[in-house]
Amino acid sequence: MKIVVTGGAGFIGGNFVHHMVNKYPDYEIINLDLLTYAGNLETLKPVEDKPNYKFIKGDIVDRPFIFDLFEKEKPDIIVNFAAETHVDRAVVDPESFVRTNVTGTTTLLDACKEYGIKRYHQVSTDEVYGDLPLDRPDLFFTEETPLHTSSPYSAAKAGADLFVLAYHRTFKLPVTISRCSNNYGPYQFPEKLIPLMLSRALANESLPVYGNGENVRDWLHVADHCEAIDLILHKGRDGEIYNVGGHNERTNLEVVKTILKALDRPESLIKYVTDRPGHDRRYAIDPAKLETELGWKPKYNFDTGIQQTIRWYLDNEDWWKRILSGEYSSYFESMYGERLQ
Ligand code: NAD
Ligand code: DAU
Repeated sequence: MKIVVTGGAGFIGGNFVHHMVNKYPDYEIINLDLLTYAGNLETLKPVEDKPNYKFIKGDIVDRPFIFDLFEKEKPDIIVNFAAETHVDRAVVDPESFVRTNVTGTTTLLDACKEYGIKRYHQVSTDEVYGDLPLDRPDLFFTEETPLHTSSPYSAAKAGADLFVLAYHRTFKLPVTISRCSNNYGPYQFPEKLIPLMLSRALANESLPVYGNGENVRDWLHVADHCEAIDLILHKGRDGEIYNVGGHNERTNLEVVKTILKALDRPESLIKYVTDRPGHDRRYAIDPAKLETELGWKPKYNFDTGIQQTIRWYLDNEDWWKRILSGEYSSYFESMYGERLQ
């Protein structure tokens, strides 16, 4: 079995490459990544010398390159993680999200159509469903929830999902889609809530909480997400969508306070800043289909997972400190400079 994992130098893709390379020594795992600001080959150090692993640098939007890769490698499976993923960056530069998330996806789909494929899997997001009200804890996203996007990021991800389903219906391409909630765990780029708060709290710097901090996210440990995709690849049905989430809803303020407590830092570090435009209120996944049809069961709940994650960041300071010293500091200044004054 030859699997091309796109975006395998990013957070979830990197964890997925580790999972597959270690669990399936007989599979060939090809990591195809453009190495944008979010891609980091340091993440792949633990597997880079394994005989069943190979890295190829390239752009999923580059049609001649992608077709050439399919011609040479003849992959059995594509798992598409490659994307622009940060909602705040999508507010500043929507076009780059259309390029990678939509055109990148259709380029891969066209190559699958041309060369044939056993399965194309699209890694999508619960953000395609929009958000839920804070005062209706009885409501959850199911696979039948209508698409109702809020941000340029989620609009581009929803567009990609629609193309994936269209290629299934029109060209009979064997596809699956997973839509997961917020991931956390090792190797997450420190622009996202948990690693950002962790790295700043450790440096005794202020923690920028958007709005009143009452927005809710449904936290999923990245290892449980990787296990879900593994199951979908092996047992999922063509043309189906599977929601992935483990009922671990927390307000942003609860998450930040948990981090401060674990690091023994004062809550006075919290600074409420101007809200994100169009900020989604609550995400909450109903994972019943994945659980009943494929037998998925998460290993982590948020309380155990966050402690393991904090430990990882404490033990792997080199990994994230190298990122903070690069382009990241000008990003942070442009995104937060005025808000934190
Ligand atoms: P990430 O930002 O950490 O990594 C994205 C990776 O894609 C990077 O390695 C980057 O170099 C690569 N990439 C970007 N543009 C590319 C291109 N044109 N060609 C090839 N590679 C390119 O992302 P992540 O958080 O690991 O998310 C992975 C996927 O999961 C995305 O599709 C995202 O929409 C989805 N997702 C993420 C979360 C989350 O909480 N992080 C939740 C739901 C869904
Ligand atoms: O739900 C899945 C999505 O989760 C993925 O599709 C996205 O790729 C991923 O980035 C994530 O999106 P969010 O916008 O939910 O994640 P983020 O870490 O950016 O923010 C989480 C919450 O924390 C959100 O309510 C905004 C808030 N926040 C975030 C940052 C970076 C703050 O209050 N302060 C911050 O500095």
